[in-house]
Amino acid sequence: MPREKDWSMFANDFDERQDFLAGEQTVEIIEEYLNELKDLGMMLELGCGNGKYTKIMARNADSILATDVSSEMLGTAQDKLKSLENVQFECSNCYNTNYNDTSFDSIFMGNLIHVVLEPHKALVEAHRVLKDQGKLILLSFTADGMSPEDIESLVGRYIDTFGSFPEVETPMTLKRLAEMVEESGFVIQRAELIGEGIKAIFVIADKRS
Ligand SMILES: C[S@@+](CC[C@H](N)C(=O)[O-])C[C@H]1O[C@@H](n2cnc3c(N)ncnc32)[C@H](O)[C@@H]1O
Repeated sequence: MPREKDWSMFANDFDERQDFLAGEQTVEIIEEYLNELKDLGMMLELGCGNGKYTKIMARNADSILATDVSSEMLGTAQDKLKSLENVQFECSNCYNTNYNDTSFDSIFMGNLIHVVLEPHKALVEAHRVLKDQGKLILLSFTADGMSPEDIESLVGRYIDTFGSFPEVETPMTLKRLAEMVEESGFVIQRAELIGEGIKAIFVIADKRS
């Protein structure tokens, strides 16, 4: 039976390791995209890790409930972001969050959808807890659109940074993720590959019931 990777051992410096892999230019581009997201209202973040993207989005959200399955990741995130009064933290599994139906104005998943065993299940759960007309925002690193040379160099750096590849890593392309998002009941507003060299999929979609 394949197992999902436990990211807890990287809780202290996950953000730095990930930024090293993504490279300065792609990190800057991602931050610009996230900074431009306005009026996020009451946001739920699934798989927040140690809070790298939570900090950026907290500027444009009334509140963020930042969740992760790893209590170690949450501990570091809480420590780093303790000065942010509009951010709360909770341990929660993206497949079954236990939050009420139609509770949140927006949901963010950063680099979660390609590391979980059942991405479709996570999207269906997001759809359930999002308000009607609420916004789903996805960011996920991908090999889609990368040159063979960049992929080869990324693989080497990935192994140096995070050890072996997870037993389960869903190879995600822009097209595949967009289809999955639509199959889960969302209407896509924007779907694109972003980044220089190292690529990420960026999707904004609305919930229609
Ligand atoms: C690759 S990291 C990304 C962290 C953060 N979003 C970022 O991009 O900086 C994936 C995160 O998802 C969490 N995670 C993995 N499986 C999960 C699940 N089933 N439910 C909630 N979080 C999960 C991991 O603990 C880890 O913190």
